[in-house]
Amino acid sequence: MAIKRVAVLTCGGDAPGLNGVIRGIARAAENVYGAQVFGFIDGFKGMIENKYMVLDQANTSGILHRGGTILGTSNRDNPFQYPMGRDEGGKLIFGDVSDQAMGNLTRLGIQALIVIGGDGSLHMAHQFADKGVRVVGVPKTIDNDLDATDQTFGFDTAINTVMEALDRLHTTAESHHRIMVVEVMGRYAGWIALHSGMAGGADVILVPEIPYDLNVVIKKIQQRSQQGKHFSLVTVAEGAAEKEGQMVVAAHIEESTDPIRLGGVGQVVAEKLGRLTGLESRTTVLGHLQRGGSPTALDRILTTRLGVKAMETAINGPWNHMVSLRGNEIVTVPIAQAIDRLKNIQPDSEIVRAARAVGICLGDVYDDE
Ligand code: F6P
Repeated sequence: MAIKRVAVLTCGGDAPGLNGVIRGIARAAENVYGAQVFGFIDGFKGMIENKYMVLDQANTSGILHRGGTILGTSNRDNPFQYPMGRDEGGKLIFGDVSDQAMGNLTRLGIQALIVIGGDGSLHMAHQFADKGVRVVGVPKTIDNDLDATDQTFGFDTAINTVMEALDRLHTTAESHHRIMVVEVMGRYAGWIALHSGMAGGADVILVPEIPYDLNVVIKKIQQRSQQGKHFSLVTVAEGAAEKEGQMVVAAHIEESTDPIRLGGVGQVVAEKLGRLTGLESRTTVLGHLQRGGSPTALDRILTTRLGVKAMETAINGPWNHMVSLRGNEIVTVPIAQAIDRLKNIQPDSEIVRAARAVGICLGDVYDDE
């Protein structure tokens, strides 16, 4: 049976490039496969509530350069654990509404579902595949922490945004002889901090994968002062933690599919560094700036290729697979491989060694060790 009706949804935190994937899917559907594409509104919420728009050439035109997603997204609506209200004590009650969502697919005659999301959303996609839906995943997250793909889309734009901020902070740090601490996103992975820090000339980069010792950072800053550099740029991933310390949690969002929100480590690091070095310090938290705005050329091309490949896979299979960048090729890999574990920085990897080789302090070993 030929597949002629496919649905797509964008799910979880947004990332620059979502519209590029939607456009690639809708255009390949019309130009290559003669298929119709239904876009569910606000992620799985739209699938549960049967809210959708039919995507075509006209309504996917002029969106490649736009951040966000024309379909809307949500990181609160897991159909397998859906918030149903509160009990008498005010505690949230969750229920499984996946059959209701499946019913809407059947009623609309949807034969395959493309889920554009990170590990949480792809986990849900995998659960729908177990229930018999032909599912295709597209790897999205600025954090770049998804396994089984060399890179996720949105990451390149995010690191360019941080790099630009670091360039700006560099000049003011130098003028005022200050320590500038920049806190970046990334959840439990340090990819954004490592890549943007390297691109932006950071002196210190702190990541969750390498617990830091503040004395090592202080020594680095003091060495710079002795060399006549009375300022330092410190890039801190939101998930970075001191040796034997804890990550700094900003909030618990009960109804979220991923309830812990990290944040605040930048302020903690800046306060201690200022006090212990005697240098003035300031913190910049880039926050959601990293998720917004126009995608880079790399992300526009990557998302176009991923969208086209996702449509091809939705039509021909293999289903329950994710489209993935491997080397210079877009291939398919089982979704199970992508959600098995998070992709983290390997402390002994070539990129970490390169960072150390150019004098970047990662907070774990003294320069002269
Ligand atoms: O996963 C993307 C991400 O931006 C993380 O880097 C960050 O920790 C989290 O989402 C923030 O989530 P929210 O948009 O709910 O504040």
